[in-house]
Amino acid sequence: MRVLGIETSCDETGVAVFDEEQGLLAHELHSQIDIHAEFGGVVPELASRDHVRKLIPLIRRTLAAAATDAADVDGVAYTAGPGLIGALLVGGAVARSLAYAWSRPCIGVHHMEGHLLAPMLEDPSPVMPFVALLVSGGHTMLVEVTGLGAYRILGQTLDDAAGEAFDKTAKLLGLPYPGGPELAAAAEAGRAGVFQLPRPMMRRPGLDFSFSGLKTAVMVAVGDRPVDARMRADMALEFQSAVVDTLVAKCRRAMDQTNVRTLVVAGGVGANLALRQTLRAVGDEAGWQVYYPRPEFCTDNGAMIAYAGMLRLRAGERAPLVIEAKARWNLEALCPPGSPTV
Ligand code: KG4
Ligand code: ZN
Repeated sequence: MRVLGIETSCDETGVAVFDEEQGLLAHELHSQIDIHAEFGGVVPELASRDHVRKLIPLIRRTLAAAATDAADVDGVAYTAGPGLIGALLVGGAVARSLAYAWSRPCIGVHHMEGHLLAPMLEDPSPVMPFVALLVSGGHTMLVEVTGLGAYRILGQTLDDAAGEAFDKTAKLLGLPYPGGPELAAAAEAGRAGVFQLPRPMMRRPGLDFSFSGLKTAVMVAVGDRPVDARMRADMALEFQSAVVDTLVAKCRRAMDQTNVRTLVVAGGVGANLALRQTLRAVGDEAGWQVYYPRPEFCTDNGAMIAYAGMLRLRAGERAPLVIEAKARWNLEALCPPGSPTV
């Protein structure tokens, strides 16, 4: 089965073709960074309009790169949520229309299911059951994954997501959008121990996170001093360490609690090198296997949607003939394919 996957939930247009036997045949991404940079964050209406402009040419290019004609496509998958509603509607409308025109089945994929399955695009790939640390711009959660669609949320953020905290703190430090990678780059020149920030929720039992206090702590520590390059680097390093320490501590707790030996890290913040290195070292010491997608599959992409869609379509799941777009969508509301509620 060969599936065309379309991702348009936020500020990246992603398209991919995944073949059940041959694996990933092609994937293409168009980033909207240039459009949103001057506003310091994503402007939803501009995001939707750019998806309208870029999606169809990107689909043509991806199909050509995959040497795939419309007739070779066995199904179409698109991100149905959660995300920006206008942006989702663009991908949903195009995917649904193509599937209808080609008389092929179509499926709306949960964006976070795409992220949590993304490490399975790699070789070696993790085997379920595993615990997934999902750290993106909109979500931060620990999920116990026992099968496709069998997801139990062990803990999640009570306020800002990890990526959101990176982005807001970057802004405070005068770094441009997108803040996460910019802050990580600035941290490389930072000196450890110059600033001390709290490690939120570490002492509290449970697996929930809270990151909004960190941003305030950065604001207080900076005070009304002008932020120069040295201070920016030192603060960026301390902020990144505080986030990494907190995420790692909660992963340890989740692994102990579930007794699962495989950890998967996905979502945009999963591209962060300090997080990847620290979790790898902690995993080696604790005897867990740690899996990540390559950094370009941590951030939004079409490959994870094509792959998740292929798994569900292959299992016989079919979406009704409507364009699904959900700004909010609880991951635990998903079901394994074939279960009576699907
Ligand atoms: O998964 P993603 O591409 O989009 C959402 O589903 O939200 O995640 C984007 C988030 C942004 O907040 C971005 O700043 C953050 O991931 N991010 C990073 C890094 N690369 C992307 N945060 C820290 N370090 C990075 N290297
Ligand atoms: Zn995402």
